[in-house]
Amino acid sequence: MNFTEEFAEVIVTVIDKQIEKEQVITMIETPKYKEMGDLAFPCFSLAKHYRKPPKVIAQEISKEIQTPLFEEVKAVGGYVNVYLNKTEVSSKILTQIITEKEYYGSTNIGQGGVVTIDLSSPNIAKPFSMGHLRSTVIGNSLGLVLEKCGYKPVRINYLGDWGTQFGKLIVAYQKWGSEGQVRENPIQELFRLYVHFHKEAENDPSLNDRGREAFKKLEDGDEETLKLWKWFREESLKEFMKIYNMLGISFDSNHGEAFYNDKMDRVVQLLEENNLLEESDGAQVVNLEDSAPCLIKKRDGTTLYATRDVAAAIYRQETYHFVKSLYVVGHEQTLHFKQLFKVLEKMGYEWHAGLAHIPFGMILKDGKKMSTRKGKTVLLEEVLKEAIELAEKGIKEKNPDLASKDEIARQVGVGAVIFHDLKIFRMNNIEFSLEDMLRFEGETAPYVQYTHARACSLLRRGNDKIHLSIDKFEDVEAWPVISLLMNFPGVIQQALKDYDPSKIAKFVIELSRAFNKYYATVKILDSNKVQERLALVYAVKIVLNEGLRLLGIESPEEM
Ligand code: ARG
Repeated sequence: MNFTEEFAEVIVTVIDKQIEKEQVITMIETPKYKEMGDLAFPCFSLAKHYRKPPKVIAQEISKEIQTPLFEEVKAVGGYVNVYLNKTEVSSKILTQIITEKEYYGSTNIGQGGVVTIDLSSPNIAKPFSMGHLRSTVIGNSLGLVLEKCGYKPVRINYLGDWGTQFGKLIVAYQKWGSEGQVRENPIQELFRLYVHFHKEAENDPSLNDRGREAFKKLEDGDEETLKLWKWFREESLKEFMKIYNMLGISFDSNHGEAFYNDKMDRVVQLLEENNLLEESDGAQVVNLEDSAPCLIKKRDGTTLYATRDVAAAIYRQETYHFVKSLYVVGHEQTLHFKQLFKVLEKMGYEWHAGLAHIPFGMILKDGKKMSTRKGKTVLLEEVLKEAIELAEKGIKEKNPDLASKDEIARQVGVGAVIFHDLKIFRMNNIEFSLEDMLRFEGETAPYVQYTHARACSLLRRGNDKIHLSIDKFEDVEAWPVISLLMNFPGVIQQALKDYDPSKIAKFVIELSRAFNKYYATVKILDSNKVQERLALVYAVKIVLNEGLRLLGIESPEEM
């Protein structure tokens, strides 16, 4: 139920359609102070038409408004301020949530349009970094929000499985590696070899040439080199899958950079046909007006990151016919995406307008960037395991008799890690702290999950008293909770518009707080208002559950 819309409708009738409803909706404001009313309509733009001062118009309009939805209508200066009728609004909202259930807040804004989401995209043979975790959870949540709004998300894990670094890795493996060690501990061993290569190359720069040669062989399809590469990729993907399974995230496509190897000639040809390729120092580049040139082909003929992204974008349009194509990638790649989008625009693709880079900040540990390079990295798998262990400890303290502790500990531990990321606006850096993530009080997933479980427990206990038709809801204490429930659809819209899941995370925290306060003030089961109060509890459970789901977090019924 959207009361702004209802208010607009009333206004439009009263002003005899002087302004279109859509326009009126955008004009309606929320007064700064609650005492001023719940919604306000400014009359200033009507002054010309009525040839009267706005103040007078506001008074006249106020007099004419009559609907059970508002308990008071007041002219304040040039504004028409209305106070929602809490009883009326509450029953409407609760009835709506209870009938629509998890569809409450769903819209069809997207009309089935496909949105591809480039997310996660870790580099094989390297540990899964915190940055990739951010991309994974932000991208996944955006997919869920898009879906809720009627789009069709396609999640693409654009694995970093191609490039000069694989030439180096192959050389390192051939010089210092062993099959057994890689099999035993693939990512760590491959990463060790990679680091070792760089150390050796400091004294022996010719190693770099060997690496480039090996990559050239790879691009030219040399069988022996390809076989090794395939094996490294498979082993890495197996390891990454463990993490994705823990997070409960899956993809529609795992086409990484390598998939585009045979689609690169076409890109170069298209660029040539458009007269966009220029030579620079033996390399092929596209010159751009407002940024550095985009490098397409190196002097030795091998391709680059940007070339593969051009090919991938074209492939995605041809395969999925996306209306939008999002790239959830750290802000340090802003220049890369600016160049990429510009090149596609110059190639004459109209769909370039649907491309968007969704950047995010870093995860810091003690104020410093967590880097993969110097072995300082925190392994994500370890982090998740530790979070789950800590969650289990917390649960055992709170509820020692709980059945299926393992599964619930996983949901809580993983939820905590995801929420810790999503509650902060994505452009801000995040300070990594396991203890903070897992607090049962404060702005954490466990706090919201715990509130949800509390609602479930009330519903179980009051099972026989749940009555799902609420024609009158007169519990004024519940108003702070109800007015939040009422905002949920709007919060989803904002999260969509700004590609910002933190709006939803902040919302579920607020709702949990309001509900817990309510729970502490009134008796629910043991009261003559038990039916309506349980209906409210049920609505809160539905919205918390759906809010968490949109963040990619599960809500256990008990914990
Ligand atoms: N693998 C890259 C990295 O770790 C991220 C890829 C992002 N996606 C893209 N289409 N370029 O830096």
